[in-house]
This record gives sequence, C-alpha cells and structure tokens, in this order.
Amino acid sequence: MNILHIDCSPRLESHSRRLSAAIVKKLLEVAPDASISRRDFAAAPLPHASSNYATALSSPTTLAAPPKGALNLSEALIQEVEAADVIVIGTPMNNLTVPSVLKAWIDQILRVGRTFKSTPGGKVGMLQDRPVFIGIASGGVFTGERANQPDFLTPYLSAVLDCIGLRTLQFLSVQATAFLDQEQATLARDKALAALDLSVIGGPHP
Ligand SMILES: Cc1cc2nc3c(=O)[nH]c(=O)nc-3n(C[C@H](O)[C@H](O)[C@H](O)COP(=O)(O)O)c2cc1C
Repeated sequence: MNILHIDCSPRLESHSRRLSAAIVKKLLEVAPDASISRRDFAAAPLPHASSNYATALSSPTTLAAPPKGALNLSEALIQEVEAADVIVIGTPMNNLTVPSVLKAWIDQILRVGRTFKSTPGGKVGMLQDRPVFIGIASGGVFTGERANQPDFLTPYLSAVLDCIGLRTLQFLSVQATAFLDQEQATLARDKALAALDLSVIGGPHP
C-alpha cells in the first residue's frame, strides 16, 4: 500500500499536521508495510498555474499541442495520485476554505482529458476511486450548533475530488484551535480520530 501524505500548514507545530500524522499512524497500524510519499506544500509550495499551463488548458486545440513542458508538473502530480492507494491531507481552514497552497495542487491535478471528461451533464472523473482522509484544523467552529462561520472547505474539496473520481472521502477535524490548550487539543484530536473508519482500506480500490 502506498500512502500519499500531504500537509499544508505553514506551521511545523500545527494541529492539522498532528492530525494528518495521526491518521497516517493509524493506517500504518493496519498496513505496516505501507510506503509513504510525502508532499509538504508549505515547505515546498507548488507554483501557481504558469502562463504555459494556462495556455495549454485554454482550448482543446492548445491542449492537444501544448507549449513544451507545460503539462510536466501536472503530469507528475497526477501520477503521484494514481500511484497512491490512500491519500491523507492535513489542511488548515483559511478564510473559510482550503489554503492557496492546496488550491495550487488542485489546479494541477484537475485536468480536462486527463483526470476528468467534460460532458454536457458535468465533469466525469477518469481516476479510479481510492480513500482520501482529510484532517482539518480551524481556529473557529464550522460544524454543528456552535458553528460561527460557513464551511466552503469540505463541500469544495468534495466537489473537486469528485470531479476526478475520488469519492471515498473522510473528513476529520480539530476545531476552535484558537481556544484550545495543549491538553484540550490532544483530546480534540483523539475525538476526531475516533471517527476514523479504516474499513475502506483494502476495499474495491486499486
Ligand atoms: C490566513 C488565515 C486564515 C484563516 N481563516 C480561518 C477561517 O476562515 N476560519 C477558521 O476557523 N480559522 C481560520 N484561521 C485559523 C486557522 O484555521 C487555525 O489557526 C488552524 O489551527 C491552523 O491550522 P494549523 O494549526 O494546522 O496551522 C485562519 C488562519 C490564517 C493564518
């Protein structure tokens, strides 16, 4: 089993990093021989879509004959996703949604004709499904009765990953991090982890 482990927080001591690491640890308990591919978009951010990439994606004609090298980064990142049996993403909520470093990855892996087909009925994913575990940290609360803000993170990630065929998603979260001391943060993380359902591992996925 290959795990693609992605982190996005600019902070090394980070709630989302701890949560994603804890998810990976749980996965290793059930699959001790798993290999781990790592992407740290805070330590090594991806560039925003380049002029050549934007030109390639601007029409079916340019996509069929893209500027030289325009799709190389996108292709490498898509192949990483394809090589992963399981994906684990640790991400903060930034301004109600994903941080821009994660969006830069999304802009590379959603590619018409490669990871999704554009049809009159909508985008149809071309990748095989596989489990994606998303560990979120938010300073405030975005679910339940105490929610004090809208959530554009979980519906957004669900929609974009669905576009490319990834539908087996689990969202875990540590919320209200702004108000948690260390002990409370550990309790919140343990509570989030208790909802982790590893029965999806080894299911009908590649
Ligand atoms: C630029 C920025 C925007 C943020 N926007 C939100 C937000 O919209 N909602 C929220 O609950 N917390 C927000 N926060 C707080 C972070 O989500 C919170 O500190 C979280 O714990 C960060 O993740 P980390 O601990 O993994 O670094 C924001 C923080 C930053 C730096």
